[in-house]
Amino acid sequence: MTAALLSLDGIDGVGKSTQLDRLRQHLLGQGHGVLSVRDPGSTEIGLKLRSLLLDSDLRLHRRTEAMLFMASRCEMVETVIGPALASDRVVLSDRFLLANVVYQSVGGEVSPDTLWRLGELANGGLRPGLTILLDMPAEAAMKRINRPADRMESRGIEYLEAVRQAFLAELPRAADTTHIVDADRPPDEVAAEIITLTDAFLNATEPKRPPAKS
Ligand code: TMP
Repeated sequence: MTAALLSLDGIDGVGKSTQLDRLRQHLLGQGHGVLSVRDPGSTEIGLKLRSLLLDSDLRLHRRTEAMLFMASRCEMVETVIGPALASDRVVLSDRFLLANVVYQSVGGEVSPDTLWRLGELANGGLRPGLTILLDMPAEAAMKRINRPADRMESRGIEYLEAVRQAFLAELPRAADTTHIVDADRPPDEVAAEIITLTDAFLNATEPKRPPAKS
């Protein structure tokens, strides 16, 4: 059994939910205990904060917004992810702190450095062992969204493209734990690459058993 935190991220419309679902099925099939979480969300407080944060009728200052996302994640780390890792589960997170750093820094009111530091506090230092960024141009990704836009999406293609560029700019900070996957391909191809990356990561993480005595 392996305790690990993995996150999938990327701009809206890249297909995270579909791919997370496929990865979850794959890991369950391999016998892992899997917990899926969604950031923001996955706790009672997180769900309330999520509906505030995505409400298109609300106007929030970017710092307020940043801290509400942080608060939701703090609650999720403390009450859901921590206990799951302690019981050797693989936690699959739909987004994590990286999303906070890029979505809330675009616009320039809060710097990425400040958000990383705030995030360390909110997460108690916990970081995903593996982050996969699903990448594709914002224009193509927006065409895949067929539901009303939430507060972030209603900022438009230019904002989302800037978020995409911010994702690509922030990844080198954690180059050893992040991978970029081209999401502008058939879902089966994307899923196969995600599974290969995840299996390699988990194999390298698994506690090594001593060789059996002959
Ligand atoms: P989701 O639809 O992928 O669950 O995310 C909801 C929206 O919130 C999405 O547009 C990305 C945005 N977001 C932030 O702005 N900051 C964050 O920290 C997170 C986790 C999401």
